[in-house]
Amino acid sequence: MNTPKIAFICASLRKESINKKLESGMIRLFEKKGAKTHVINLNEFQMPIFHGDLKIPENVKSLTKLLETFDGIVITTPEYNGCLPPLLKNMIDWTSADSIDYIKNAIWGIASATPGPMSGIMCMRQLNFILNRLGGEVLSQQVGCGNAASSLDSDGNLISQPALNFAEKMCEMMIKRIDQKN
Ligand SMILES: Cc1cc2nc3c(=O)[nH]c(=O)nc-3n(C[C@H](O)[C@H](O)[C@H](O)COP(=O)(O)O)c2cc1C
Repeated sequence: MNTPKIAFICASLRKESINKKLESGMIRLFEKKGAKTHVINLNEFQMPIFHGDLKIPENVKSLTKLLETFDGIVITTPEYNGCLPPLLKNMIDWTSADSIDYIKNAIWGIASATPGPMSGIMCMRQLNFILNRLGGEVLSQQVGCGNAASSLDSDGNLISQPALNFAEKMCEMMIKRIDQKN
């Protein structure tokens, strides 16, 4: 089995982001199970709000090319007003205008942390829909991490159920699915 290459994208750029914490906890978990991980920092790929008259910016093209190199991609995202955040939607709109090969080629994992108990279920549902619509294979096991203050420690380690169990299952499913494809 080749070492699976998994990218992590956090859809919050906030310094104290709970989704960034969740991302670091999940990265440790995926590495323990043998994956090679890579963080995609969206701060390094600033892009204007999508406008069909604009030329595709060079850093959008670089991001699309980079994303094409991964076997799996995990998104950790906040939920804003029951929806996915504009940072993430804008990134998907721009990159999909360039190429959707990266979406079709990767196995996708979706995760969301929220301060309250609902764990971003509305946002995860929408993201699932968008990725499916673009031909992406999204794992059925998502990681809803509600009540983040008690589900994550200060380093982002998942310390309580059910989120820890969800993350372990997602990781196993992703590695197995990538192995089956290769
Ligand atoms: C504009 C706005 C809308 C929000 N809407 C929701 C929501 O629909 N559901 C929810 O669980 N939390 C909502 N929140 C709270 C976020 O989950 C919380 O701010 C979270 O910490 C953001 O993620 P981050 O820490 O990774 O940046 C909202 C926050 C903002 C600023």
